[in-house]
Amino acid sequence: MSKPRGLRIAGNWKMNQGVAETRAFFESLSKIQLPSGKSFAPGVTSSLYVPALSLSAAKDACAKAPAPWNGIAIGVQNAHWEKSGAYTGEISGPMLLEAGVKTVLIGHSERRQFFGETSETAFKRTVSLLQQGFEVMLCVGETRAQREAGQTESCLREQLAPVTFGGSTGPLMGFWNGRLLIAYEPVWAIGTGLTATPSQANDAHAFIRKLLKDQVGPDAAAKTPILYGGSVTPKNVAELMAQPEIDGALVGGASLKPDSFSQLF
Ligand code: PGA
Repeated sequence: MSKPRGLRIAGNWKMNQGVAETRAFFESLSKIQLPSGKSFAPGVTSSLYVPALSLSAAKDACAKAPAPWNGIAIGVQNAHWEKSGAYTGEISGPMLLEAGVKTVLIGHSERRQFFGETSETAFKRTVSLLQQGFEVMLCVGETRAQREAGQTESCLREQLAPVTFGGSTGPLMGFWNGRLLIAYEPVWAIGTGLTATPSQANDAHAFIRKLLKDQVGPDAAAKTPILYGGSVTPKNVAELMAQPEIDGALVGGASLKPDSFSQLF
């Protein structure tokens, strides 16, 4: 299946897998061969967002793994907008660059829900990291209460407002080239086993793309990959990825085991 923006299969380990488990994951993954052989299918790329303490082990083990697994980009799950300073518990862009990281997850719903992340702080992280050369995967998505109240679109509009602010000459001018990815993850579907139906997901993606088109421009809309996340598994991945507006998957639970992770490809 050929996709205009390619297809990204991304894993989010959340607060799982320390150094030993990370090494064991790649050891087992290395023994698995894809039906497509030593490469991902044409247009497919992969990234894995690991805990910061497992980053070095993941990068080493990944580099030693056979193709295609050595092509996975290893990233982290959050980073601060400032380059250094008094921000206890945070990690900065320069530290990540030094560690060889190229991709960062930002604004995941668990960070919004449990750690006070707002659309504004997620935006500050996003713009700073893009300016420092990273790829950023920005997560958005409505809660169950918002969906039931018919507020899915207003929620997505609010979460993306700082990003689209200023349109084609806004703070993200020059970055609408595919280095910013958006992950649509309905909160009610995360870790619950409840997946958005392919058409529910496709509709939300189409809405986001229209928002980008109307507020930033056709180029931004055409180049920004929009991934779906929320209980994606080897069983439902193909049907979701077949949707025209879906450019990839961000996968939590099913990315933790080498078997299920490999079956996402
Ligand atoms: P899940 O998590 O696949 O376990 O639902 C997805 C995510 O939170 O990124």
